[in-house]
Amino acid sequence: MNVKARIQYLKDKINQANYEYYTLDNSSISDFEFDFLLQELLELETKYPELSTMDSPTKRVGGVASEKFQKIVHDEQMLSLGNVFSAQECLDFDQKIKKEVSNYTYVAELKIDGLSVSLKYDSGLLIRAATRGDGLIGEDITDNVRTIRSVPLRIPIEAPVEFRGEIYMSKASFEALNKEKIALKEEPFRNPRNAASGSIRQLDSTLVSKRKLDVYIYYLMDRKNYQTHMQSLAACKEFGFHVNERTRHCQTIHEVIDFINEISGIRSSLPYEIDGIVIKVNEYHTYDEIGYTSKFPKWAVAYKFPAEEVKTSIEGITFQIGRTGVVTPVAELKPVMISGSLVSRATLHNEDFCVELDIRIGDQVIVRKAGEVIPEVVKVVLEDRLPTLAPFSMIEFCPKCQSHLVRKDSEADYYCLNPLCEGKIIEGLIHFASRDAYDIDGMGEKVVIDLVNDGFIHSIVDIFHLKNHYEDLIQKEGYGEKSVQRLLEAIEKSKQNNFDRLLFAIGIRHVGQKASKNIAEAFGSMDAIMQATYEQLLEIKDVGGAIATSIIQYMKEESKIQLIESLKVLGLKMQYDTQKWQKETYFTGKSVVITGTLSRYSRNEAEALVEKFGGVAGSSVSKKTSIVVAGESAGTKLQKARSLGVAVIDEEEFHRIVTEIMNEI
Ligand code: IVH
Repeated sequence: MNVKARIQYLKDKINQANYEYYTLDNSSISDFEFDFLLQELLELETKYPELSTMDSPTKRVGGVASEKFQKIVHDEQMLSLGNVFSAQECLDFDQKIKKEVSNYTYVAELKIDGLSVSLKYDSGLLIRAATRGDGLIGEDITDNVRTIRSVPLRIPIEAPVEFRGEIYMSKASFEALNKEKIALKEEPFRNPRNAASGSIRQLDSTLVSKRKLDVYIYYLMDRKNYQTHMQSLAACKEFGFHVNERTRHCQTIHEVIDFINEISGIRSSLPYEIDGIVIKVNEYHTYDEIGYTSKFPKWAVAYKFPAEEVKTSIEGITFQIGRTGVVTPVAELKPVMISGSLVSRATLHNEDFCVELDIRIGDQVIVRKAGEVIPEVVKVVLEDRLPTLAPFSMIEFCPKCQSHLVRKDSEADYYCLNPLCEGKIIEGLIHFASRDAYDIDGMGEKVVIDLVNDGFIHSIVDIFHLKNHYEDLIQKEGYGEKSVQRLLEAIEKSKQNNFDRLLFAIGIRHVGQKASKNIAEAFGSMDAIMQATYEQLLEIKDVGGAIATSIIQYMKEESKIQLIESLKVLGLKMQYDTQKWQKETYFTGKSVVITGTLSRYSRNEAEALVEKFGGVAGSSVSKKTSIVVAGESAGTKLQKARSLGVAVIDEEEFHRIVTEIMNEI
């Protein structure tokens, strides 16, 4: 057999095995044989690079880690959907459609809970995969998406074409991945969506190829060659994409509502998570007539499932201390499954909440959980109450250090004021290291508790001195050399975090992630924040009296000033690095008028890009206009620009500039 034929043979065999494995869930060859064939193909392609093609299954193996993802501009904005929450709102949606068009039908699809992706093909080859980003600008994840085996590397269409769909992880793969993470003492993912988006954002695509991700396609961006959405989905299936098998063509909105009820009933038994049903008009010719808002198409809407409510009983009420010293009552529930996860605890907020609900140990209660929202007790089922149950009473002493709790005037919360309370310290450190805060990989709740209990850390500063205890750490049970090294590396790496993360991580009361970002951006550095006045803080977006007071108080405390000084010396970033385009770009301070028709962008998109990059998008041309972007058949505005001597660029030039700005970031 000659080399070329052997390569073709290997490719076919591997593709067949992939298909069997992923689509039929049953492979005729073993994993070992599979790897063996893939290895041979890789070797042949390395030896004869001229025989290596873009659609070879070796391209799915993944490559070396890149430093960061390149930004891309979407050819057409990736829109999101408006929401409806009841059957009545579905009927209202239908009424609005009826006002615009007649003779239409619907397609009802599962709203898969993952992350959206755009897949571009040219000359039949997958040339680019991108995340949604902010809808206009996403990130290039082509190498990672190539590792998802149900994404065809070649399709039988020569013309450039784009598909959109949802990357997701099945419930089973999510459970398996978390088991692995827990065994490695890493923090598990909170839900399959986070697992999918965390996986696809790994820089090393060889790692991505080990995560079991899949894609359902829900949109083929070619309304010229297909008349209906159903037809285009059928085509996607033929090209080899996964299209959700439960998608249903409905003649009327009533059939859609039946579908919603049907799926609600089986939702928990589906192998993947969904958070609603997407309702789309089927006939493409109606789309332009029905139209768009600036964010959503009006020909589609997402029905969102209501928060699931379940009855269970209160087995106990415990008290939990938080990082700021607030002591919160917590309901210990008889464990129940709600929205796909086992719930055994729910916050009872504070004394007033408990008194108002009149909640008692032994009560039957209704508990609710919507999506990622923390479970909450909605009400007590008073009819079921036994006469012997004792009313709720708040504790007087800290559950950890036994100091006397204090309820401040005008607040519902009780505080432990002991600065050395171990409960507070542990919670503060868990918060510091957590993913949304300083994001120290491998330093989850359990690791923090272990390290505190064994006397390695008592404060944030100690985390950065852990490297001096390497020898002792590797002696700890369950902490091998490798995991300790990984942890220490993660700690060092975290020092590169931008300053807004630090501001959030140090745990100033009321100062959340968003406020931290706004404050860091506005003041630029820790020093400036330490000097800030109450009034200056109030000027920041989303900062109110509570946040401002809390910051001023924090920055006055001697122990906090010392903490900040020590972290400074350790090399943590105390300055906010603004993203480059917020600094200066070609468009900064320029007034830009877009005229004529652009082929890559809608008018709205082009204007949004100008504004995003610091320019001002205007609608009429005057002497003050800096640049006119002239698209196809530009008319009077172009003439005016010429007569006033205003600079004119064409779409290609505009696109080149935009792409350049993004690649600098
Ligand atoms: S259609 C213009 N269909 O939900 C069409 N979206 O809130 C816009 N999603 O960003 C999207 N399953 O990530 C559509 N069958 C489906 C979907 C779906 C999940 C996600 C998608 C989108 C978000 C919209």
